[in-house]
Amino acid sequence: MNEPGSFTIGIIADVHIGPRASFAGQVRKIGDQAAALTQAFVDDMNGRLKPDLVLNLGDVVQEEGRAKDIPRYRQIFEILSGLDAPHYPVVGNHDLIDMRTEDLLEIWSGLPNMKGLGALEERRLYYSFKAGPLTFIVLHSQEKKDSHIWIEDDQVAWFEQELAAAVGPVMVVVHHSLADQDTSANHWFGKCPHLALVKNRARVRQLIEESGKVALVLNGHLHWNNCTVHAGIGYYTVQSLIENAGGWEPPRPARAWSQFHWQGQGYRLEVLGDDPCLFEPLS
Ligand SMILES: [Fe+2]
Ligand SMILES: [Fe+2]
Repeated sequence: MNEPGSFTIGIIADVHIGPRASFAGQVRKIGDQAAALTQAFVDDMNGRLKPDLVLNLGDVVQEEGRAKDIPRYRQIFEILSGLDAPHYPVVGNHDLIDMRTEDLLEIWSGLPNMKGLGALEERRLYYSFKAGPLTFIVLHSQEKKDSHIWIEDDQVAWFEQELAAAVGPVMVVVHHSLADQDTSANHWFGKCPHLALVKNRARVRQLIEESGKVALVLNGHLHWNNCTVHAGIGYYTVQSLIENAGGWEPPRPARAWSQFHWQGQGYRLEVLGDDPCLFEPLS
């Protein structure tokens, strides 16, 4: 049960619907179970957590060409449309390997809660909204495949303006990490942190810190759980729904999703499933 006065968020990350994918000789992404697990997430949200809203941190598809990706991306959104809570999407790098911005916006336009937030109207994949005690700023971190990740200068300027105008504590949501996160033990990014972390993150963090308003930053992409703190602000990465997190044989997914509770000025973030993690509350 949610405590009176609390604000609760359900979080699903890196769904990767599509074919299974291997790395370093191991099957790591169990994308053929993504639809069933997304339905299990919806059932848990509606039946137990009853969140005020749901964040979907991106990498909805494991790309296999635009003709397959679009119906698969739509299929996940249709499953999530069974949520009692509004669903707010974040774009991941795999969503834009074969699909286009307009493909995603067309599907995002089916979400009633996305109207008037700037993304659909301005034809961009970043936006902000206010819900309960929090202001959410959702960023679009871009990735040039096998090269680098960045946030465009005009989006950084928009972000600065949004922070200036924001009321109350802010939660920044983005697919890649804005922290100087140590990826050395990460299965996917141990040898390539530049493919996990936003290149111009120091500038973005400077704006976050100067605003004095940001309570926390949340992302997916790295397919593990991590908290890195900069200037007293927690930067959290949460596990993917379908990652074979333990390198288990036979391969199976972590079945990971997360729940976030805001209570007064403090919060609690918990990753459920087979790679669980409780982040101690910061206040
Ligand atoms: Fe991913
Ligand atoms: Fe990703």
